[in-house]
Amino acid sequence: MRYKHIILFYNKTSYNNLEVYVIVPITCTEWSKASEISSDKYVGKTVCLRGWIYRRRVIGGKAFIVLRDSSGIIQVVADKRDVGEEKVREFKDIGLEASIVLKGKVVKQPRAPTGYEVHVEEIDIVGYSRDFPIKGGEGIEYLLDNRHLWIRSRRLTEIMKIKHHVLKAGRGYFIENDWWEVTPPILTASAVEGGATLFPVKYFEKKAYLSQSAQLYLEALIFSLEKVWSLTPSFRAEKSRTRRHLAEYWHLEAEAAWYNMEGMMRVAEELVSYIVEKVLENCRSQLEFLGRDINALKRAVEVPYPRIKYDEAIEILQRKGVNIEWGDDLGADEERILTQEFDRPFFVTHFPKDIKSFYMKLTPGDPRTVLGFDLLAPEGYGEIIGGSEREDDYNRLLEKIKEQGLNPEDYTWYLDLRKYGSVPHSGFGLGIERLVMWIAGLDHIRDAIPFPRFRGRIYP
Ligand code: 4AD
Ligand code: MG
Repeated sequence: MRYKHIILFYNKTSYNNLEVYVIVPITCTEWSKASEISSDKYVGKTVCLRGWIYRRRVIGGKAFIVLRDSSGIIQVVADKRDVGEEKVREFKDIGLEASIVLKGKVVKQPRAPTGYEVHVEEIDIVGYSRDFPIKGGEGIEYLLDNRHLWIRSRRLTEIMKIKHHVLKAGRGYFIENDWWEVTPPILTASAVEGGATLFPVKYFEKKAYLSQSAQLYLEALIFSLEKVWSLTPSFRAEKSRTRRHLAEYWHLEAEAAWYNMEGMMRVAEELVSYIVEKVLENCRSQLEFLGRDINALKRAVEVPYPRIKYDEAIEILQRKGVNIEWGDDLGADEERILTQEFDRPFFVTHFPKDIKSFYMKLTPGDPRTVLGFDLLAPEGYGEIIGGSEREDDYNRLLEKIKEQGLNPEDYTWYLDLRKYGSVPHSGFGLGIERLVMWIAGLDHIRDAIPFPRFRGRIYP
């Protein structure tokens, strides 16, 4: 028997008696995809399809089924004259999301969702689906409880396809430009981005933390590889639930020797521009399905992006009536207001040292500020990248560690990097879900990740 040509499934009578299942030989040797056959090229051809029931209704002697597979949807019509009355009756009470296989002929049909439909010759149910828990109109918490099923929705599917292309392009950018990919640890001994958002874990007899950022390890790796990048999960125990914070997110980070802040900002903007370009190239139908404004994205392909200093950001905000003073951090609200000034991503640079991490290099000639930069996405989205030139002097770094109330002993190995052949260097981290949120035009970060994690929820 050639197993390629058979599939295993329960036949109808075995549904109530799951012990019995049968091997049903089917004659298909090639399976088509729903989206591919919605084309004049396929009209008149017999195709085989497999997928899930997205919608169905039975009218007269015909079952109209919208089948969904990984490529999209297609209407299939099972007429009792072709498949028998019993088959059509069966589809009358078959549940949404049941899985089916079928064989039929492609015809043009302007009334069908894609303009084409398949007239069924043979059809069978592979997996029943009684009472699918999502019927439409449910609330957010209910859909999050049923996330393992809700991820089948077209909206989330289209977003995941966009994310695939964001990740592919992100990796592609670094590979094409000869950066080394490295694999930093997730279990770590100390904080990068402040103790407040650390996730402690029991590490044998000791306490360890889930990584907030690979940065410190990437810094160690530039002394051999010079230009390195990594894509890893990062963890932040964010105290409150917001539209743009996850407890676990994907972090694309870069670090390079001999780069100053401006050099690293150029890498950051080229990377974002490259990703947007690739998404525009590969995800038109997904962006259209989500109703995304394509022109807003096109504007983000052109580099360089505008740059403003923190000082100017404060002036703009004050002019707009925001109650903010030099030295205050920019929150989501302030960032949203700043984005009204730009129609593409833009940088804010030279933040006060007290609101930024210990590792940022002080601005020469202005020790109140650091050589740090954020890249903000337009249309209200705000920060998608945080980066800086790093303090490369041993004594100044030690001073900063103490100044921020950190224990120098926790950073002995990191300080070593400034003892043995220190070099000027810079880096940044890009939040993948933040980027996907903006590119896809989402109003909440939870839909940029299949199984979102945030305070109060770790299910499913
Ligand atoms: O600005 P952050 O905290 O910078 C760092 O972690 C640096 N050590 C990175 C580096 O220089 N290698 O985080 C970087 C980016 C943010 O700009 C944001 O896009 C994302 O990570 N991010 C989050 N995304 C989702 N949920 C959260 N809770 C996030 N916190 C940060
Ligand atoms: Mg930041």
